[in-house]
Amino acid sequence: MTATVPNSIGAAQAGSPPKDRGGAARVVAGGLDLGQTASAAGLEAIVGGIDPRLLAAQAAPAAPGSMSIQNVSCYYGAHLAVADVALEIPGRAVTAFIGPSGCGKSTLLRAINRMHEVIPGARATGSIKLDGVDLYERGIDPVSVRSKVGMVFQKPNPFPAMSIKDNVLAGLIIRGARPRGSAADELVERCLNRAHLWEEVKDRLKKSGDSLSGGQQQRLCIARAIAVQPDVVLMDEPCSALDPISTLAIEELMRDLARDYTVVVVTHNMAQANRISDITAFFSLASAGQPGRLVESGLTADIFSAPKVAATRDYIDGRFG
Ligand SMILES: Nc1ncnc2c1ncn2[C@@H]1O[C@H](COP(=O)(O)OP(=O)(O)O)[C@@H](O)[C@H]1O
Ligand SMILES: [Mg+2]
Repeated sequence: MTATVPNSIGAAQAGSPPKDRGGAARVVAGGLDLGQTASAAGLEAIVGGIDPRLLAAQAAPAAPGSMSIQNVSCYYGAHLAVADVALEIPGRAVTAFIGPSGCGKSTLLRAINRMHEVIPGARATGSIKLDGVDLYERGIDPVSVRSKVGMVFQKPNPFPAMSIKDNVLAGLIIRGARPRGSAADELVERCLNRAHLWEEVKDRLKKSGDSLSGGQQQRLCIARAIAVQPDVVLMDEPCSALDPISTLAIEELMRDLARDYTVVVVTHNMAQANRISDITAFFSLASAGQPGRLVESGLTADIFSAPKVAATRDYIDGRFG
């Protein structure tokens, strides 16, 4: 029997009390009694210059849909494409992957929902947890992972032979769980609304998905991805085939989606990463053929204003490749 990824893990975690990072004993520092309520962590923040935003994030209960990537390496046959990535992806936020071509952003993204291993000879090692469950644990069904962790690609890829409505339902149809009647209508309307597309297509749901513009097709693909109720939506350069107006529409949508989903987006557009993401992860590689590595990650505001590594600054400022 294969295990599936439980639905309830995130909800259980969201309801748990905040972690106590240092206890609430009476804190005395330098002869100064800071009182019963000051926690050791709070004190660190006051005297140690720790970024209070990070502290707040650590003290808050993990939002559902949080991911933890540990020691992840991805191979194509004997070729090590991505080496030893460790990265925390907060739930219900937008995380941007940036870095030069070939550094393994798409590969890592595909490893997150176990699509990497579908490529013949490809494999990943390490651990990727979603709400504490290791998606690579023995017995986890990769198909259930892909319904919890959906994916949207660079080129919009609606199924051309299917109507707009059936495109939204495609994930369920493929799994043999096609909803009928009003249940189907309601789901289609909800997902198209959520993808900011309903008003534009509500009068032509029976038309082919192919009949839409590129930007509309991409929003249709997003509606299709969320129809199976994922926790995480992965997007690989979702705007790079779109015009500027459609790009802005998708950017707005990504921000909006982060209220209910964890969004991870690969982008080559620095302004876009800066505009839409909460966390930025910068990947790079020493030279062609070398494995890609995570150089640094952090709050987007910090990565863009004061990166710790010179290579990050060079890349963001356009001095790379
Ligand atoms: N299907 C594949 N088969 C073999 N090697 C691949 C495949 N896809 C990507 N690679 C290799 O993996 C490395 C990372 O590629 P990729 O993940 O596409 O980088 P990025 O998305 O950052 O441009 C590159 O060296 C690339 O040639
Ligand atoms: Mg790529």
